[in-house]
Amino acid sequence: MSSERTSWKVQSSRTAQQAFNPIREIVDKQKINTNLTKPLISLSIGDPTLFGNFSIDGSANEAVIRQIDSLKANGYPPADGTLAARTAVAEAHSVPEAPLRPNDVILTNGCSGALEMCINVLCNEGQNILLPRPGFSLYGSIAATRFVEAKYYNLMPERNWEADLQHLESLIDDKTSAILINNPSNPCGSVYSREHLLNILAVAEKHHVPIIADEIYCDLVFEGNKFFPMATLTSTVPILSVGGLAKKWLVPGWRVGWILIHDRNGVFKEIHTGLHQLAQIILGPNSLIQGALPDILTNTPKEFYERTIKQLEANVKLSVEKLTQVDGLVPVNPQGAMYMMIGIEIEKFKDIQDGIDFSAKLLDEENVVCLPGECFKYPNFIRLVITPPHNQLEEAYDRLNAFCARHRK
Ligand SMILES: Cc1ncc(COP(=O)(O)O)c(C=O)c1O
Repeated sequence: MSSERTSWKVQSSRTAQQAFNPIREIVDKQKINTNLTKPLISLSIGDPTLFGNFSIDGSANEAVIRQIDSLKANGYPPADGTLAARTAVAEAHSVPEAPLRPNDVILTNGCSGALEMCINVLCNEGQNILLPRPGFSLYGSIAATRFVEAKYYNLMPERNWEADLQHLESLIDDKTSAILINNPSNPCGSVYSREHLLNILAVAEKHHVPIIADEIYCDLVFEGNKFFPMATLTSTVPILSVGGLAKKWLVPGWRVGWILIHDRNGVFKEIHTGLHQLAQIILGPNSLIQGALPDILTNTPKEFYERTIKQLEANVKLSVEKLTQVDGLVPVNPQGAMYMMIGIEIEKFKDIQDGIDFSAKLLDEENVVCLPGECFKYPNFIRLVITPPHNQLEEAYDRLNAFCARHRK
């Protein structure tokens, strides 16, 4: 017998101990005030299906029903996704400047699964990854569980949340394994110009650091803006682009994401193999949706996408109109996605400390939920989701206005 154990001592792993979701940590401390009679309005969850005003196109529904009825999509799909689904994703995203073969596509468990695999394949323990600040908190959470250091580069609100390239470049060292770019952005709602993306690529090229491009909000851009897939702008910088059905097709619960491997000059040879190897461990999205994916990507009518954008644009217009009138709040106009960051002029308030304090008091007094900027490593801001129906948005902004008036000096 080689064990000396004499009693139970079962400890959680180092990975589990590192697992941390800052949003839960902050939001769980906020308390609902049960004495309030006004209904709760939630502007905190980035799920466009919550309110019933953004709905899936009927053709996508039918495509899934056809798969169920066929009885042919009930088995295990291949580890990296069915060939038909990967072919459809490759064809939907392939352009002459950034061609994709089915083998360059890996289907994943939502875009979150794609991000996890990208960080896993590019980063070793002890290396670092550059992440945007403010940025989606999952990036840092995944890095932490892999013992990869997160280094945050600043985004600049006064320049529509462009990256501070000097700051970004100053963070790069020999241990930097990737730069993560999120465009269009959660939480900022920013959409980067071609020029800005080219400038970021120039830094990546100079230092030979690959890019993970989180493009889950691709094409959700408002009039006057254009979405450029990052991989279409470079012939030298290798890019892993991640996306999925969640936002553009309004089905986050279906958990379908993908990685598009844009190799450049064979630099990603090992990464390509590594991703296919990693895919072997846990199968990706469920077989029914994989079966329906070719139909969804080719048959969703363009009116569906146009309708979503129009609805979002109308909500942005209302939000900007209402919020710019509130003394003490500085909304940064979004150019895409589903969110809006609002600066809080702390000095104008008598008893507000920061974003956490603002959102906790707003919930307590007005029953309106928003996320404090601290969830995205950006204090003195709050983030609002702009997908609720107009009447709820109007009501929420009226309450926000009353709240600010009460707390202003
Ligand atoms: C920027 C960003 N990336 C990735 C994801 C994850 O997407 P999914 O729900 O497909 O896992 C989200 C979800 O909100 C997001 O906002």
